Amino acid sequence: MNEPKKLFVKSFGCQMNVYDSRRMADTMAPRGYVETAAADDADLVILNTCHIREKAAEKVYSELGRVRRLKETAASEGRRLVVAVAGCVAQAEGEEIIRRAPSVDLVFGPQSYHRLPELLARAARGEKPVDTEFPLDDKFDHLAAPTPSAIRTRGVSAFVTVQEGCDKFCTFCVVPYTRGAEVSRPANKIIAEVERLAAAGVREITLIGQNVNAYHGAGTNGRSWSLARLLERVSDIEGIERLRYTTSHPRDMDDELIAAHRDLPKLMPQLHLPVQSGSDRILAAMNRRHTRADYLDVVARLRAARPDLALTSDFIVGFPGESEADFAETLNLLDAIGFCGAFSFKYSPRPGTPGAELADQIDDEMKSERLQRLQTAIDRGQQAFNRSCLGRTFDVLFEKPGRHAGQLVGRSPYLQPVQATAPSSMIGEIATVTITEVASNSLFGALAHAPVREPALLAAGA
Ligand code: 5AD
Ligand code: SF4
Repeated sequence: MNEPKKLFVKSFGCQMNVYDSRRMADTMAPRGYVETAAADDADLVILNTCHIREKAAEKVYSELGRVRRLKETAASEGRRLVVAVAGCVAQAEGEEIIRRAPSVDLVFGPQSYHRLPELLARAARGEKPVDTEFPLDDKFDHLAAPTPSAIRTRGVSAFVTVQEGCDKFCTFCVVPYTRGAEVSRPANKIIAEVERLAAAGVREITLIGQNVNAYHGAGTNGRSWSLARLLERVSDIEGIERLRYTTSHPRDMDDELIAAHRDLPKLMPQLHLPVQSGSDRILAAMNRRHTRADYLDVVARLRAARPDLALTSDFIVGFPGESEADFAETLNLLDAIGFCGAFSFKYSPRPGTPGAELADQIDDEMKSERLQRLQTAIDRGQQAFNRSCLGRTFDVLFEKPGRHAGQLVGRSPYLQPVQATAPSSMIGEIATVTITEVASNSLFGALAHAPVREPALLAAGA
């Protein structure tokens, strides 16, 4: 038998990229590639890139500098290191990447991952293929599924992509250009994938998509299913104890999905619902298609359905034309909602998006100053939420060994990491834990009583 080849995949950006990277590794596994955690002994390096903000895109080029040196070292040892750039920078910049970084052997966008073996064969013949098409066939039909042992290595909580792309065209965002139009996967494919994950010991599934609650895939009854319907069906799969979905758009948060938060006990009481700004003027300029009042109304309806729901969000500061008064509206939206956490970003003009063409671009110093103030307010909210957890008892899904010997770390229903003294045989189990200490963003707890499930398969070897 041939020596296995080594594959190093580095993901930048969102969870969709993490998912795609795994599916690429799964596709290369039957072709003799094993994953390595170290780029320096790899035969193939894939950078799965993110184009959402300028900084994210620039990281790729600095990483390519390091990879070029690895390639030179490999060549001096008589080895060939193949360098591939995938993901949204690949989609947006195509050939330009090879011009800027000639050590790159192949470039391919997010809709071409299933063509990786063929593209590699072309690279082996000395070509430098660039594939940034949006083919009509579904890449997921051609990407291999993970083996049970690969699933176990990746842990008890898994992502499953259910839709890709976006039709919303927020004026700051590159996603509709890099990932293309919204496409939902058929429910039967998603169900089969979740069943396979559950059989190998996965307990928690997060359905992911750039605009996940716009999901409208073909159902098993031949009709189009909503995300609510899909969640209901997935929650019936044996072994799956917890469900989440991300990332949602407020406009697509319909009554049926809100009701799912009331009716599906496995749907966790935490929701990521980006708002971006608290100012109606800026929301309109961003083409968000919702107002501040719409957002408050959706949150009120969600909380009526699920009173213990905790919310996180995304914010952009310094969008063109944002005045101090607009920014104050964002700050006071934080108080009005009471988020348990949030991501916040300085507006980054992306080439080809309408926002980049707007007059009134805000200077970087002001963006930094607003970001700082916003982050202070977000941290305050997060810490208040964490402090409110002290003394409460949660179901914690144990994921892996904790910071200290004898400890495990798991996630609360609100996604907070919780450290507790527990045997490693409890990895993959949901246990009742009382929170005994809150230090900044870490929670510590004590097992309240015996585990609620049998030891999961995850503790077993391959
Ligand atoms: N500049 C800054 N932040 C952005 N985001 C998306 N595009 C940009 C941009 N051009 C943020 C949004 C989105 C998150 C994933 O990234 O807040 O919700
Ligand atoms: Fe981008 Fe989200 Fe807006 Fe779609 S809804 S354009 S992914 S920010």
